[in-house]
Amino acid sequence: MSDTLNISIDLSGKLSLINRRIEEVLVTDNTDLTEMSLYNIKGGGKRLRPLIVLLAFEMNTDRDISNALDLAVAYELMHSASLIHDDIIDEAEERRGQPAMHRKYNVQDAIVTGDFLFSVAYRLGAKYGREVSDSVALAARKLAEGQITESKNLGNLNITESIYMNIISNKTAYFFGAGARSATIAAEADMETQKNMFKFAYNIGMAFQITDDILDIVGKEEVIGKPTFMDFKHSALTLPMIYALKNSQSPETVNLKNVIRGNRTDKESINAAKNYLLSCGAVDLALEMAKHYIDEGIGAMRYAKNSPNLQTLFEIAYSIISRIRI
Ligand code: IPE
Ligand code: IPE
Ligand code: MG
Ligand code: MG
Repeated sequence: MSDTLNISIDLSGKLSLINRRIEEVLVTDNTDLTEMSLYNIKGGGKRLRPLIVLLAFEMNTDRDISNALDLAVAYELMHSASLIHDDIIDEAEERRGQPAMHRKYNVQDAIVTGDFLFSVAYRLGAKYGREVSDSVALAARKLAEGQITESKNLGNLNITESIYMNIISNKTAYFFGAGARSATIAAEADMETQKNMFKFAYNIGMAFQITDDILDIVGKEEVIGKPTFMDFKHSALTLPMIYALKNSQSPETVNLKNVIRGNRTDKESINAAKNYLLSCGAVDLALEMAKHYIDEGIGAMRYAKNSPNLQTLFEIAYSIISRIRI
């Protein structure tokens, strides 16, 4: 696996349940389609979303987690589908430590494979009844809203912090929240628990995307399993860039703007932009914001009964921040 969760609790049992079920549900009459849909999944991935689903289910019911497995898998498949499409949109070369699907195969087949994964996810979600399947579909809708707002703002040097937060809320955080809420609905937990689990996962989803955006600037390709500086290349303004451009008239911001606009693509200019984002405090400030969302998420669970799963969820939450080593 290219990028793994850095936590002390052993989740290998849950991970292998998830991975085995994925291989079962992706079998079709078309061996090419099956091969392509498994390509992305077998490449790795942290399985963060399905793990949250299983943990949230298990801590709210006496029933066995096998009862939530298809729901967990539904969220992972939608997530994988979104990555396949996202890599086409972002013109990304690598994903999960291997060539992105559209590079390994071709754009046409990658689009169809992504669509196929969404369709399997909806079928799996539908097994859990109307309310859960609504949640699954709404997560996909929010993802689409976020991606479109993001693409509309590419190259927009005046993008505000609030537009950025709106984008990541829709494309990433809501998805985390929906998974956790679906799990609690399937577990027949009370309304308060459903809301709190949503809030927990939503907030750690916000932190996750902010952190991932920071890693695009300061991460190591061999660790994150995908190329760095994609957001510069793609003119996507992320939180550190927004903070750096906010109050500054310094000469370094001229270079930063040129790099974001794609006027400068040489290594030196890119490194200078990276160093400026670090030295002016913008990366630290973004990291503080990610920590704030982790605290919010943990806070949402203050009335939850303590349990091993709750502690695991907290560890997962903290591990999101610890991915960053500057
Ligand atoms: C990548 O998500 C896309 C973002 C929301 C930043 P992950 O980092 O969870 O991707 P995998 O599943 O581990 O590859
Ligand atoms: C996350 O955004 C994409 C989705 C939520 C589909 P990014 O474009 O930043 O994700 P990476 O960096 O390619 O993984
Ligand atoms: Mg991308
Ligand atoms: Mg990114």
